[in-house]
Amino acid sequence: MKKIMIHDMPNHIGETVKLGVWLANKRSSGKIAFLQLRDGSGFVQAVIVKEEVGEELFATAKGLTQETSMYITGVVKEDTRSTFGCELNVTAIEVIHAAVDYPITPKEHGVEFLMDNRHLWLRSRKQHAIMKVRNEVIRATYEFFNMNGFVKIDPPILTGSAPEGTSELFATKYFDEDAYLSQSGQLYMEAAAMALGKVFSFGPTFRAEKSKTRRHLIEFWMIEPEIAFCEFEESLEIQEQYVSYIVQSVLKNCKIDLERLGRDTSKLEHIQAPFPRITYDDAIKFLHEKGFTDIQWGDDFGAPHETAIAEHYDKPVFITCYPVGIKPFYMQPHPERDDVVLCADLIAPEGYGEIIGGSERINDYDLLKQRIAEHNLDEKAYAWYLDLRKQGSVPHSGFGLGLERTVAWISGAEHVRECIPFPRLLNRLYP
Ligand code: 4AD
Repeated sequence: MKKIMIHDMPNHIGETVKLGVWLANKRSSGKIAFLQLRDGSGFVQAVIVKEEVGEELFATAKGLTQETSMYITGVVKEDTRSTFGCELNVTAIEVIHAAVDYPITPKEHGVEFLMDNRHLWLRSRKQHAIMKVRNEVIRATYEFFNMNGFVKIDPPILTGSAPEGTSELFATKYFDEDAYLSQSGQLYMEAAAMALGKVFSFGPTFRAEKSKTRRHLIEFWMIEPEIAFCEFEESLEIQEQYVSYIVQSVLKNCKIDLERLGRDTSKLEHIQAPFPRITYDDAIKFLHEKGFTDIQWGDDFGAPHETAIAEHYDKPVFITCYPVGIKPFYMQPHPERDDVVLCADLIAPEGYGEIIGGSERINDYDLLKQRIAEHNLDEKAYAWYLDLRKQGSVPHSGFGLGLERTVAWISGAEHVRECIPFPRLLNRLYP
């Protein structure tokens, strides 16, 4: 007997096949039972008719509990109303393990309950669809950067230097030395760009941020490209092309998942480069015109400010050239002004907030040394990073895209906690 997966069923119409599945849900009457089956590749309905299969098998089907695992055999029938265009007419069931009291039922559950049961919640249709979107964003990321001549580089997770400020670090011991979990691979990616020209990384990032919002995780995954001989404007072009590419890839390859999520795809179809740009100065003016009196030039934007700016556009928007005082030490100053730097945050539409932070990097040795001192950083820890500016330093730029925020936006999830398999949140380390 041919063992296949649910997503392969359309290629086997009329054939008898065997599937390894779990029971997601069921409904039955005295004569017919409908089983909702899942196997990871998708969900499908199986039909079992008492008159056709006899008392015993029908009783087995009726007695199946939610999440019971089994091998199920049947004939694949065309059914144009279903997701894969087919259903299974059951002829045999071989129970592997009967699940007991599965806690997540089709009724509504509270978020804390679902989070406590994250190891099981992952099996639900919505979570399944979000993980598929996440997987497609990762796949398309590798495809985009490989197509464009970037080399994948893996920066270390245990580090001695902190790129994004010292207040949000997870400290640990490295034998007798102090070390930190990586907040960003950027500094290492700059070294790699000097060796390989165009590089990108993809890895976990740790921020001990005491923020409890729908956009913040303690551990999240970041994609960090870094490009030698690349000035600020050129880097914005790469960002808008990259983001357009992943959105279009998800639209093309995750139709079933977006449909299951009820995502309004008309909000994504037009996401194509170029994206609008607004300077920080103009963004402040815009917010004042909109009646925001709580923000002054020199302040960082909060979520309501970002949302108000994003609502003005139907594509992601770059906010460029922030004040030097609210950005990290490594950003290149504006060529005509010393109060702002050559950086941009990319703000997603629909209130999903900042999905990319990036900048041109300082390439001058003396200026970088001065900035390290101004930020009270230990120059010894950055000696190797400074050294890069002594050995054929070039203009270079890079950026970091937060995977979970991007997945939340594309899939329409309310919270980033649903966009990573096992979220690490404030006060949550289990499961
Ligand atoms: O703006 P950030 O802090 O930039 C950097 O770390 C740079 N060193 C990246 C670089 O230039 N190579 O973070 C980049 C992105 C943000 O735009 C956001 O999408 C995501 O990382 N991010 C978070 N995502 C979830 N939870 C958090 N606590 C996040 N903090 C940042």
